[in-house]
Amino acid sequence: MTALADRDIDGEPDTDELAGVAGVTGDSGVDSAARVAKTAGETAGAADPDSVLGPPRRVRLRRPGRRGFGGPGGGRWGQLPVPPEFRATTVQACGLWPFTAGSARPVEGVPLGTDLVTRTTVCCDPLSWFSAGHIANPSALVLGRPGLGKSSLVSRMVLGLADRGVRPFVLGDLKPDYADLVQALGGQVLRVARGAGTINPLDPGAMGDAARRIGGAAGDGLAREARDRAATMVSTLVQLVRRTPLADYEDAMLTAALRLLTADRPSGTAATLPDLLRVIADGPEEVHAVALSRGDRDRYQDLAEPLQRSLHAVLDGPLGATFAGPTTARISADAPGVCVDISGIAEHDERLTAAVMLACWSDGFGAIEAANALAEAGLAPHRRFFIVLDELWRPLRIGAGLPARMDSLTRLNRNDGAGQVFLTHSLRDLESMANREDQLKARGFAERAGMIITAGLPRTDLKLVSAILPLSTREIDLVASWSTPRSWTPRRVRDARGRERPAAPPGLGKFLLKVGEGKAGIPVQLQLTQTEIDLHDTNQRWIG
Ligand SMILES: Nc1ncnc2c1ncn2[C@@H]1O[C@H](COP(=O)(O)OP(=O)(O)OP(=O)(O)O)[C@@H](O)[C@H]1O
Ligand SMILES: [Mg+2]
Repeated sequence: MTALADRDIDGEPDTDELAGVAGVTGDSGVDSAARVAKTAGETAGAADPDSVLGPPRRVRLRRPGRRGFGGPGGGRWGQLPVPPEFRATTVQACGLWPFTAGSARPVEGVPLGTDLVTRTTVCCDPLSWFSAGHIANPSALVLGRPGLGKSSLVSRMVLGLADRGVRPFVLGDLKPDYADLVQALGGQVLRVARGAGTINPLDPGAMGDAARRIGGAAGDGLAREARDRAATMVSTLVQLVRRTPLADYEDAMLTAALRLLTADRPSGTAATLPDLLRVIADGPEEVHAVALSRGDRDRYQDLAEPLQRSLHAVLDGPLGATFAGPTTARISADAPGVCVDISGIAEHDERLTAAVMLACWSDGFGAIEAANALAEAGLAPHRRFFIVLDELWRPLRIGAGLPARMDSLTRLNRNDGAGQVFLTHSLRDLESMANREDQLKARGFAERAGMIITAGLPRTDLKLVSAILPLSTREIDLVASWSTPRSWTPRRVRDARGRERPAAPPGLGKFLLKVGEGKAGIPVQLQLTQTEIDLHDTNQRWIG
């Protein structure tokens, strides 16, 4: 009975100790609880004041706290043991009922790691979340300070999605971050650098092959589209050299010349830029017609000369070696993945970087369109694609039509069965362009992204994110803490291979997944396998 007396001598604020009030009839030998209640000054209910036994007393019974009963003989636990936790599928874990608990986190998508708060598994990738209706379009923007694991996160998504048959398309790997992974997946890795690998902008690529296979009106339509794509690509190259857009009649002359060139060619072969230049110089009737020179040779020369000069500048200038010859390797949507490694192009060689990136996008998106057209014609299975654009700040900084091209791509991906992810350090990268129009376009990427994933970022950058997708104060505090060093003590560790290297920065592999206003973000710790780290170790030079 004493154990039940309400003497809170353990000092622990056990909120659930008060058991309630019980009426007890006094009995000389056992009524110690009633006595204690009296000592505590509790007033009893006055049912029968004249009773020999006195009125019934209100007593408080005790229940054990979280650690058991306090006080002498209570046996309260000094430390609570933490029971081991296991994660398992419902099929495996059902036998452990009732000791199982579900997770409120979405289970669709590539498994990334554990929730930093609930310790449950977090699965996420833009394609699966879009399919499950969690986000409005299959795209994500990944932000974070350098070296905190952004590319590793996207590599995990690439790997997980590849396992479901989704083909990664890295159309311009600037570091490279994905070449080894795509190679390991059995995909196509193409290398383009100054003097290594050529891209023929007039090559209809996979679209030309698909147009021949489909045939009929649908095939003709696709062939026309391939030709328009080639004309746009040539026009972009000229624009990169001239630094001003082409006049409308010049674009028309390019398209007319290309039409003539492709009409005469045996199927499966592609004309090249020198062929195009020759046609424009010759000035056949069809090109005269769109230039409105009315058969006047001199007038035609005046109109065609600037275009001819620019095409010469492309062919004989720094871009010529890469764009004058036939394509060395075409992008194929049949491969389990595609990575165009352009890391061999020097960082200061901005014009070549822009030109190659635009050509890769043109060819790569053409391959995706071709795959879709073949699937619609019943000639190939339906396929999904995951487009990765890492180091977004570089094409944005270059400008030169890249932001505008990216803008149109991001609007169309959903219709093409493609999801995409953009990676950059901060939203400030999207505002650093000289051209106001480019700035607005780049900001549009962030606003249209289905989700924003942030690794560690300073508060000032998080406020910019918050302006697009409101973050709570706690979310800002959490993400800001991931980019703050723990102490000044130098720390080097041994990795799984026994090599000495700098210890991981505090926020390595930590991400906040944010999908919409008013919906709490999910903080996740990405857990990489050793195989993944071996495939993508960008700190190799700091080992030893
Ligand atoms: N979750 C993780 N666990 C262990 N190592 C990781 C993890 N994430 C990334 N790394 C390692 O950290 C290094 C940096 O990662 P990564 O290149 O993905 O960072 P990043 O944010 O893309 O950097 P940058 O901004 O420079 O492109 C790599 O060597 C990678 O293997
Ligand atoms: Mg990276």
